[in-house]
Amino acid sequence: MRKRLANKVAIVTGAGSGMGKAISIAFANEGAKVLVADRQSETLNQTKDEIISNDNIAESIVTDMTNPTDVKKMIQAAVDKFGKLDILVNNAGIMDNFKTVETTTDTLWNQVLAVNLTGPFQACREAITVMKDQPDGGVIINNASIGGLFGARGGAAYTASKHGLIGVTENIAATYGTFGNIRANAIAPGGVATNIGSSLTDPDPLGGRAIAASGANEAPMGQPEQIANVALFLASDESSFVNGDVVKADGGWTAR
Ligand SMILES: NC(=O)c1ccc[n+]([C@@H]2O[C@H](COP(=O)([O-])OP(=O)(O)OC[C@H]3O[C@@H](n4cnc5c(N)ncnc54)[C@H](O)[C@@H]3O)[C@@H](O)[C@H]2O)c1
Repeated sequence: MRKRLANKVAIVTGAGSGMGKAISIAFANEGAKVLVADRQSETLNQTKDEIISNDNIAESIVTDMTNPTDVKKMIQAAVDKFGKLDILVNNAGIMDNFKTVETTTDTLWNQVLAVNLTGPFQACREAITVMKDQPDGGVIINNASIGGLFGARGGAAYTASKHGLIGVTENIAATYGTFGNIRANAIAPGGVATNIGSSLTDPDPLGGRAIAASGANEAPMGQPEQIANVALFLASDESSFVNGDVVKADGGWTAR
């Protein structure tokens, strides 16, 4: 049977851990050549090695999404190594210890916005310049969050960054999707068992209270592979008429 991403070239950011790792492995298993990117070289290369040990194809590039030169090089590397770029998954992201507007410093704000919004925006810009001239266009998938749709699933900076990422996604869909051949969709995961929780070293009490009030403690917990399956659908031609959507994958947390 033909693989779902046969002959496709993909970039996945934040590929060294959690959902980015699962997405990279799933894409490669479905026939994509995957350029895996992360700021952490050790875990990044573990992902690459795992893909290659499955007899699939991957290259890696150390990329800090807060560095515009790195972002540019990452997009160019896909074209240099594999000849084109069909799929960009902006997945790398960081949390903000649930800090409220009052307790969010300018440093924290700038850091979270740089990783979660500005870097992905720049990657989209660079990818679109490549994709728009390709006969088959391309697909952009931005890993946002339920925090991109509601007010109390992260701190102020995280919430703003993910709302912004959904806005960029919808803008690309409305322009390059409607009047071109580049589709853009976002995923809004609920709680997923990854390493991101280890960054919650100093949770803000008020921010934490608001999140608890949203039912977070009783929300179902997902696995990275469950999000990878959503990404796989959005990356493949099976979703050819899906453009500008935000796919919630939260086990029903926000349905209640
Ligand atoms: N885990 C959850 O519950 C959850 C829920 C909703 C959304 N998300 C989003 O999913 C995405 C993936 O998160 P995860 O849960 O798999 O986390 P994770 O911490 O397991 O993995 C994130 C990866 O991103 C990398 N990264 C961080 N900053 C980077 C930078 N500046 N440049 C390049 N790489 C960088 C890290 O090194 C890490 O390998 C994030 O955007 C996160 O906001 C997570």
